[in-house]
Amino acid sequence: MSIENIKEKIRDVKDFPQKGIIFRDLTTVFKDKDCLHALSEELTKLYKEKGITKVVGIESRGFIMGPIIANNLGAGFVTLRKPGKLPAETWSESYEKEYGTDTIEIHKDALNSEDIIVLHDDLLATGGTMLAAYKLVKRFNPKKVYVNFIVELEFLKGRDVFPPEVEIEALIKY
Ligand code: PRP
Ligand code: ADE
Repeated sequence: MSIENIKEKIRDVKDFPQKGIIFRDLTTVFKDKDCLHALSEELTKLYKEKGITKVVGIESRGFIMGPIIANNLGAGFVTLRKPGKLPAETWSESYEKEYGTDTIEIHKDALNSEDIIVLHDDLLATGGTMLAAYKLVKRFNPKKVYVNFIVELEFLKGRDVFPPEVEIEALIKY
């Protein structure tokens, strides 16, 4: 199955969660066993020879493919969570959303300076969420951080908020 075949399975929902937004719904991809398998293979292929030690997934939609990619790569999986969810000591990073601010957190012992990391989320829109995630994992001074999405909304130019040296991959573009 090609990436174009996967793209065809994404459901467009107009005016969700608010008027004017076309929501790119990946649940229709995940529920199809052949699509799920192809997505797993395509995402994993990008990082096969990179010596990845940890995949870091962003709550909540980064928790679907993140652990699958990690397992395929023989790496560990780390969760980046919304505030107050992680039980041990955390680092936090706040970021701007359309209305007000949001925060994500990571356990202080989740990563170390030997790690080679893939940061994964389902979708890149304005980039605010992933940039906050990127800043959080950089605190651990890891060897390398790759940034990965299933979908990129190119017209929102989310890529441009990252330092130019960051290697960003997205399988499917709108
Ligand atoms: C969505 C999506 C990304 C983020 C992208 O998550 O899963 O995490 O928005 O937007 P951005 O690039 O403009 O930051 P959402 O905040 O809706 O939370 P959810 O995963 O819990 O549904
Ligand atoms: N997150 C931000 N914008 C989105 C969109 N258009 N579809 C799905 N998730 C999103």
